[in-house]
Amino acid sequence: MEKTWLQALGKMTYGIYVLTTRHKSEINGMIASWVSQISHDPPLIMIAVHPNRYSNNLIRQSGHFVLHVLARDRNDFLERFKGPDPESKFESISWFEGKTGCPVLKDCLAYMECEVTADYSPGNHTLFIGEVKDAQVFSEKPPLSTLDYSGVYIGKD
Ligand SMILES: Cc1cc2nc3c(=O)[nH]c(=O)nc-3n(C[C@H](O)[C@H](O)[C@H](O)COP(=O)(O)O)c2cc1C
Repeated sequence: MEKTWLQALGKMTYGIYVLTTRHKSEINGMIASWVSQISHDPPLIMIAVHPNRYSNNLIRQSGHFVLHVLARDRNDFLERFKGPDPESKFESISWFEGKTGCPVLKDCLAYMECEVTADYSPGNHTLFIGEVKDAQVFSEKPPLSTLDYSGVYIGKD
């Protein structure tokens, strides 16, 4: 049974995003795919972040995050942002401080700055609900998704 539901869930498609956050002087970014819009008015986004992620604590403490939609040809960001070292993630790429204080990557198709309005832990990930407070679109290029990724994020740990 486990193998069947794992395989079936692995067939689902998602966007692949960079999620950034800041608490005081600490900034961080991570790759996230368990992400969805969940309301039009107010505009709400849900992200699922495992408690083991360094970002989880920063988002919880700051109450803010930025979700970046990436271009299909930027899958090099997968390597850059999946590691554990926050410093190296932002080395030699351009970013600026958004309205929420979180880092905003210049090299993205669009970004949404969010304020956390609720969080839930129904399973092994924290669901942070964020209200979009600011957003910009930089490009109409096609976005990066799991269709461009050979692995599967299973979210076990
Ligand atoms: C394609 C892909 C999708 C991912 N999606 C998520 C996700 O939705 N939630 C999550 O908690 N981790 C996800 N991860 C794992 C984190 O990006 C990874 O553990 C990262 O190193 C966490 O960084 P941090 O601990 O510095 O916050 C994903 C990784 C990849 C490669």
